[in-house]
Amino acid sequence: MKKAELIEIMLYNTALEHSAIVQYLHHVFLIRDEEITAEIEKIARQEMRHMKWFAQKAVQLGGIAKLNRIEEEINIGGPTMDDMLKKNVRAEEKAVEIYTKQLDSVKDDSVLKLLERVIKDEEQHKHEFSELLDKISQGKEIREEREKPNKEIVNLVNKLLKEEYRILLSYLHSFFHSKDWEYKDIAMDLAIESMVHMGELGEKLRDMGEIPDLSMPQLEEGVSVEDYILEEEGAQKDYLKSIEKVKDPELIKLLEWINSHEQYHRHRLVEFLNRMKRFSVGKP
Ligand SMILES: [Fe+2]
Ligand SMILES: [Fe+2]
Ligand SMILES: [Fe+2]
Repeated sequence: MKKAELIEIMLYNTALEHSAIVQYLHHVFLIRDEEITAEIEKIARQEMRHMKWFAQKAVQLGGIAKLNRIEEEINIGGPTMDDMLKKNVRAEEKAVEIYTKQLDSVKDDSVLKLLERVIKDEEQHKHEFSELLDKISQGKEIREEREKPNKEIVNLVNKLLKEEYRILLSYLHSFFHSKDWEYKDIAMDLAIESMVHMGELGEKLRDMGEIPDLSMPQLEEGVSVEDYILEEEGAQKDYLKSIEKVKDPELIKLLEWINSHEQYHRHRLVEFLNRMKRFSVGKP
């Protein structure tokens, strides 16, 4: 595939993500149930990150970022919440179809990794929108039959949450102190995603009837890119080990999703490190 074609694809994806954001924000304005709008907003923020990554990739490949949208991919639906959520499930399905198809023709490893990562997110979004649909169609109070969480699982989730908190502060520190704009950008992305993980794990603990442990972690300063790569590898190991101990399928799904993010974090750092070595511009 020619570079120009790849840039076209990245710009198409940027526009597709843009369309999803517009669709979801419309729903946030139309729906009055705050629990539902909070969920939709959370997903819209992730689409914003996808949009940024696709546009950045287009620029990295030598293209020019265009912030178009695709009008026919903005399907607001309504007026019922049920119809709007169905449109969102469909949007996520379509995104998965489109990105999965692209995997066949794309050769660029960095773009492949990005697509794989985004596909994981869209699958998760589809699941979340479907869950919201179930929730409203069954009346809100229905709770799934879940086994009582045992202390071991609670401690395990708390430990993962604290790790996310620690690494988030560390990335923020690197963001403030690095002079390299590209490194700053990666550090901020990873800080935000660690915050998302922390939030999701905290919500899980709340659902188990527990209070998340938000005590101050040991602060680390001046962590090198190499060390962050090791940190991300360590995080993957922690998540994989945890998945083995957990029985709740929803929690397993969450941990797997976070784990796929950690893989992508590592990849972003490795890619940056390699680029840095190639141009040998010194420490970030
Ligand atoms: Fe997306
Ligand atoms: Fe999505
Ligand atoms: Fe991470």
